[in-house]
Amino acid sequence: MPTGPVPLPAAPLKWPAEAIWEAVFAALPGLSVEVLPRVDSTNSELMRRARAGLADPVLLVGERQIAGRGRLGRDWQSDTAGAGGTLTFSLGLPLQPQDWSGLSLAVGLSVVRSLHPDLQLKWPNDVWWQGRKLAGILIETTSVGEERYAVIGVGINISPMTPSESAGLRTPPAALQELLPALDAPAALQRVAAPLVHAVLQFASEGFAPLQDAFRSRDLLFGQPVVCTNGTRGMASGVDSSGALLVHTEAGMVSIHSAEVSVRQGPLAPPP
Ligand code: BTN
Repeated sequence: MPTGPVPLPAAPLKWPAEAIWEAVFAALPGLSVEVLPRVDSTNSELMRRARAGLADPVLLVGERQIAGRGRLGRDWQSDTAGAGGTLTFSLGLPLQPQDWSGLSLAVGLSVVRSLHPDLQLKWPNDVWWQGRKLAGILIETTSVGEERYAVIGVGINISPMTPSESAGLRTPPAALQELLPALDAPAALQRVAAPLVHAVLQFASEGFAPLQDAFRSRDLLFGQPVVCTNGTRGMASGVDSSGALLVHTEAGMVSIHSAEVSVRQGPLAPPP
C-alpha cells in the first residue's frame, strides 16, 4: 500500500482565448482560438485541415504535443505542464504577401518584442537568451484553392528543465521563467498572440524591409564569425531588405536566402 502524499492533479490551465480574440477582432475578424489537450503537432493539425479545404484563420494551442516538429526535420517534443514545460501553438491563416521572404524573421521579431528586451534572434528566427535557445519557429504553407495558407508554429520554453531532463544535452535550453518568473504558458500566449497576428498582417502588406533595422537590434550573429551548412564561412553582417543573411566571406558578400541552411558561430578559417 503506497504511503506519503498523493500528488494533486494539475489545475486546468486558463487560456486567454477571449482576450486574444478581442484584441485581434478588428484586424482578423474570422479568427477562432482553440486549445487541444493532446495533439501530434499543432502545425501538422492545421496543415491537415488546410489540405482538407479548411482555410479559416485559427490559433491552435496544443497543451501536449507528442510529435512536434522543428526546422530542418528535427523533433520538438513539448508539454505545457511541469518542469521543462513549453507553450506550443500555431497560427494558421490565408496570406498573400507580395514576397514571402522575410516572413520567418518578422515572426521571430514579433515574438521577441512581445516577450523581453534581452532576447535575441539567431537567423532566421531562433530565439536565444544568454547563449541558449529559448524558442523556435516553424513556418509552413500550402495551397487552399486559389489561396495560400500559412501555418506559423511557435514553441517557447516556459519553465526550466530539471537536471535529469537536461542530462545529456550539451547546452540545456533557456526558459522564459528565468527572465520572467511569474509568466506561465497562458500568460505568455496572451503576450505574444495578438501582436503576432498584427505583425503577420503587417508583413503581408509591407514586407520585411521596414523591419530590417529592428532585426539588426536583436541580431545575435551580427559581427560574429559563422559557418553555414552550405559551406559558406565568414563574418555575419546583418540581413538585407528581404531578410537574407549577409555573410562577408573571403570572396566578398554572400547572401543566404534559404532557411534550410543552418548557421552556427564558428571560426573564420576552416580547420587545417
Ligand atoms: C525549431 O526551432 O526547430 C522550430 C520549432 C517549432 C516548434 C513549434 S511548437 C508548435 C508548432 N508545432 C510543431 O510541430 N512545431 C511548431
